Amino acid sequence: MTIHNLPTQLVSRIKTREGFIITLKIDKKIDFFPGQFLHLRIDSQRYDPLLRRPFSIWNYSHKNSSTYIDVLFKVVGRGTDILAKEDNLKPFVMIPLGNKFNILNDRSNYIMVAGGAGIVPFYLLGRELVKMHKGKVTLIFGARNSSQLYGLEQLSSLGLDMHICTDDGSEGKKGLVTEILDELLGKQKTDSIQAFSCGPMVMLKRVSEVCNKWNVGCQLSLETHMGCALGACRACIVKVKNKDDWKYSRVCCEGPNYNSSELIWE
Ligand SMILES: Cc1cc2nc3c(=O)[nH]c(=O)nc-3n(C[C@H](O)[C@H](O)[C@H](O)COP(=O)(O)OP(=O)(O)OC[C@H]3O[C@@H](n4cnc5c(N)ncnc54)[C@H](O)[C@@H]3O)c2cc1C
Ligand code: FES
Repeated sequence: MTIHNLPTQLVSRIKTREGFIITLKIDKKIDFFPGQFLHLRIDSQRYDPLLRRPFSIWNYSHKNSSTYIDVLFKVVGRGTDILAKEDNLKPFVMIPLGNKFNILNDRSNYIMVAGGAGIVPFYLLGRELVKMHKGKVTLIFGARNSSQLYGLEQLSSLGLDMHICTDDGSEGKKGLVTEILDELLGKQKTDSIQAFSCGPMVMLKRVSEVCNKWNVGCQLSLETHMGCALGACRACIVKVKNKDDWKYSRVCCEGPNYNSSELIWE
């Protein structure tokens, strides 16, 4: 797949709970698969921040020969702070990057498990799974508190079976996504289920353990730190199994989506 490096126009910015959704317009028609991401040079008029920042694609649409990409982010540092506040930015975007989620067509029950900003890849995936109309599509979405349940309003319109939880009980059930996952898997015929998850590493490790317990295949979308996002700098590497041994895998180009059974947890 060709990777494009294109100028974009920041056409809108809206606040959603503690996060933001910005819309970037590109004068080219580009399609994305659920699970892919982009690498954003926040402002091409300056070198601060120097490095691009990776973001999942929340949603996209075409109008005439342009593509409109929605990016949902939370502010954590310099780059996201500029994106949240400043106007007159001239961003550049490298797209589309990474592998896609590998949807197993022989399943009838799909479960997505998201923590905080790890929700982002699941709007496009949820929409795709519902469109395939292949059975039940469940979303388990958790965050520290209700203000970090990003994008909930848009997700509610997809027709998913939604299970919401927060650490402090401020919205949904009080507890962890992995507790709800364990409970749901315990009640169902697990050989029809495929699971997907994105969120903090500690959560993904626990999701992987719960899926192992019930013998359910799970794909994990990793959000490691990145430098080049082109496979050159190795800033993003993780350890994966390699027959009886292990090797490093570059999340930016061999990932970000991995079968949980491939990964080596440390
Ligand atoms: C494939 C991929 C998809 C992503 N999708 C999204 C998304 O859709 N929405 C979103 O809000 N975020 C997403 N992220 C994380 C996002 O890239 C970082 O939050 C962003 O780069 C931070 O930039 P900054 O300049 O604001 O922060 P920096 O100043 O670079 O860092 C501020 C703090 O955040 C930490 N940080 C930076 N990057 C990461 C990271 N990848 N994981 C954990 N901590 C980090 C730093 O260690 C530091 O403590 C994604 C990351 C990857 C790799
Ligand atoms: S970010 Fe440079 S190799 Fe992955």
